[in-house]
Amino acid sequence: MVVSMYIVEGGRTLRGEVRVQGSKNSTLPILAASLLCRGESVLFNCPRLSDVEASLTILRYIGCKAHREGDVVIVDTGSVTRNEIPSALMHKMRSSIIFLGAMIARFDRVRMSFPGGCELGPRPIDLHLSALREMGVMICEEHGELDCRVDDGLHGANIALTIPSVGATENIMIAAATAEGTTIISNAAREPEITDLADYLIACGAKISGAGESTVIIDGVKELHPASHAIIPDRIVAATLMSAAAVTGSDIRFKSVIPSHLGSITPVFRECGCEIEYTGDGVIFRSPYRLKSPKLIRTMPYPGFPTDAQAPLMSVACVADGLTVFVENMFESRYSHVSELCRLGANIRIEGRVAVVDGVRRLLSAHVHARDLRGAAALVVATLCARGKSEVEGIEYLERGYEDFELVLSSLGADIKKI
Ligand code: EPZ
Repeated sequence: MVVSMYIVEGGRTLRGEVRVQGSKNSTLPILAASLLCRGESVLFNCPRLSDVEASLTILRYIGCKAHREGDVVIVDTGSVTRNEIPSALMHKMRSSIIFLGAMIARFDRVRMSFPGGCELGPRPIDLHLSALREMGVMICEEHGELDCRVDDGLHGANIALTIPSVGATENIMIAAATAEGTTIISNAAREPEITDLADYLIACGAKISGAGESTVIIDGVKELHPASHAIIPDRIVAATLMSAAAVTGSDIRFKSVIPSHLGSITPVFRECGCEIEYTGDGVIFRSPYRLKSPKLIRTMPYPGFPTDAQAPLMSVACVADGLTVFVENMFESRYSHVSELCRLGANIRIEGRVAVVDGVRRLLSAHVHARDLRGAAALVVATLCARGKSEVEGIEYLERGYEDFELVLSSLGADIKKI
């Protein structure tokens, strides 16, 4: 893996307008779902990310054709030749388990390796597997491989999720779209990316109701046809750029933001003293000279505060006036950025899932190491307000989810270079 690094000269104010990229966590399941159709699907506003490239590589390996024209990705799933995904490809991207539902719906036999764990701790897939078994899939798990078989077709089922898992909800929706009969998912995840996936599947002819709510009903249809679809904006990238504006005391205009997707994020920034004004086609974000601490941030399933925004908002808390308590309820080790923020002069203490941040007036430059996607984003945000020249190593993690991040920040006036 190529090691790349950002050099950031902190302390500058940002200004201008930025268009938020398409959502990574919407693009990945939709690319998998395109396998259900036979023909050419066209995806607009598709972000250029290494996780998206990894998904296109998996699709090409299976036999699809896929190419990109700027922000548009065209996937032709007409002829597929392979029904297995090798472990090398599965390990490139943890969320590649999202291909299981689509592949088992397309082929009657699928082999893929267990997805790798990731920096956030173990990433279990028990909910995915038990749901697919209820829909008629025989799954043998051995030697780190999943060997899946469907003898007489997928059939609908009533599935109650013990956790509103995003990936499990997506895999079930995809597998159920062309299954025999009706599938009801209770305690389904409600993230906007679930609704976006449902919108794409409905455009392909699927019969889905309740996406975005806790109960989703899918009436299986015989087959789906390809469709065009525009990916929703990435709400986590928007929250990250707002964090960059907040810590540098900047006023920024955002285009292509969906206000309702930031419902639990906007109040946090307002508590910090930021002003957020939703205009017709975007957001005007204004920051105070001195941030106030947001007091308490607990990560929860949507519509609660998103776990993916915890790290970037922690960088905001580091330079806000007062104490902020973070409770990370979704993943067991999602604080890898804390030790690195402390190297930048932050004052943070961790007790299990709780992190207590005591805001300081100013961070100081340092050489820091990112160890996961959102932690990398948090470190870049923090160096923007650290006086002096900082280095952020591990930018390959950031490039999984942020498109041309150093170019976006430079266009707003930041002094940031990639080497
Ligand atoms: C999706 O991951 C996102 N990834 C994650 O974003 C996000 O953090 C997460 O949802 C929560 O919002 C994509 O959409 C590609 P989950 P996913 O299944 O689907 C447990 C990022 O930074 N669980 O909702 O894997 C699991 O361990 C990434 O963009 C089981 O126990 O998340 C976790 O504690 C990181 N068994 C909780 O549920 C299962 O079978 C929520 O996980 C599945 C999940």
